[in-house]
Amino acid sequence: MRILVTGGAGYIGSVAVEELLRIGHSVVVLDNLSKGHRAAVLPGADLAIGEVGDRDALDRVFGTGPVDAVMHFAADSLVGESMKVPGKYFRSNLCEGLQLLDAMKAHGTSKIVFSSTAAVYGEPVSVPIRETDPSSPSNPYGASKLGFESALRWYREAYGIRSIRLRYFNAAGASELLGEDHDPETHLIPLILEVASGKREAVDIFGTDYETPDGTCIRDYVHVTDLAQAHILALGALDDGREGVYNLGNGEGYSVREVVDCACRVTGEEITAREVGRRPGDPAILVASSDRAVRELGWRPRQAEIDEIVRTAWQWHVAHPGGYGE
Ligand code: UFG
Repeated sequence: MRILVTGGAGYIGSVAVEELLRIGHSVVVLDNLSKGHRAAVLPGADLAIGEVGDRDALDRVFGTGPVDAVMHFAADSLVGESMKVPGKYFRSNLCEGLQLLDAMKAHGTSKIVFSSTAAVYGEPVSVPIRETDPSSPSNPYGASKLGFESALRWYREAYGIRSIRLRYFNAAGASELLGEDHDPETHLIPLILEVASGKREAVDIFGTDYETPDGTCIRDYVHVTDLAQAHILALGALDDGREGVYNLGNGEGYSVREVVDCACRVTGEEITAREVGRRPGDPAILVASSDRAVRELGWRPRQAEIDEIVRTAWQWHVAHPGGYGE
């Protein structure tokens, strides 16, 4: 199949491209390289540099040959930033996404796997979170992703565009070739590893007064290659006529302090952590039930252990001290 991967130069998208190429698909990446890296697009994939919201760029990509399905990763995805500049999030994650759907409709592509997020739930009503639980985002990032999920429902009704919406919990870890390199970095695990490698003095712990056993936020970390695998399964499921929404997490929550301790264990380095105030928009606990993905997609996470997740992230960090070096 020929798959269009938006955001395929980014952290999760690039690993999905790696997996698509490995199993013999043809891949065209559309990425504006604002956060992605040219070097993260493996040889074998075509790279079109452009915006998802640019209809001409989309028409050029769709015009170079039939696209059997789309994987839509391109997004703004920082909870903290979204609280400060909500418009940016609704524009890129919702408005630009609509251009993509309109282009799919115009060019006769009817299958899409969408990168949604645990942030659609907001503060959970129960843990682990199920897909049937209420969605009440506590930040504009989650709200913008939920908005696009909603648009997908109505594009299904009107034009028959079928989707699988994958709600990722906290993506982490690295494949052998590809890892996490953001500028500026805001994610917990890479920041901790920067402290371990001496690039940064300390990591801030955002809030120690949450209603959790040690007072810090709890998250469900899921390996990036397991996420990529879920996309491959979703593609197959769409082919089999399935559609729907699926959580992707390991069902185990780790507090910020536990992740710091884990990184000390894995790296053998001391890691200084500073307690600071809460970061606005952060729910206290996000832990997934992924039973539906396991049952219906046949998803089997292979690197579910937090130590293994941090170990692969560390391995990549050590092998790429300057990230992708761009
Ligand atoms: N944290 C710190 N210090 C830091 C950075 C983060 O204490 O310097 C804490 C956060 O408050 C949060 C946890 O570590 O409790 C994880 O934070 P990240 O920034 O790594 O990730 P988020 O949970 O904010 O968000 C990530 C993705 C989102 C996705 C979400 C789903 O960035 O796109 O996971 O759970 F929606």
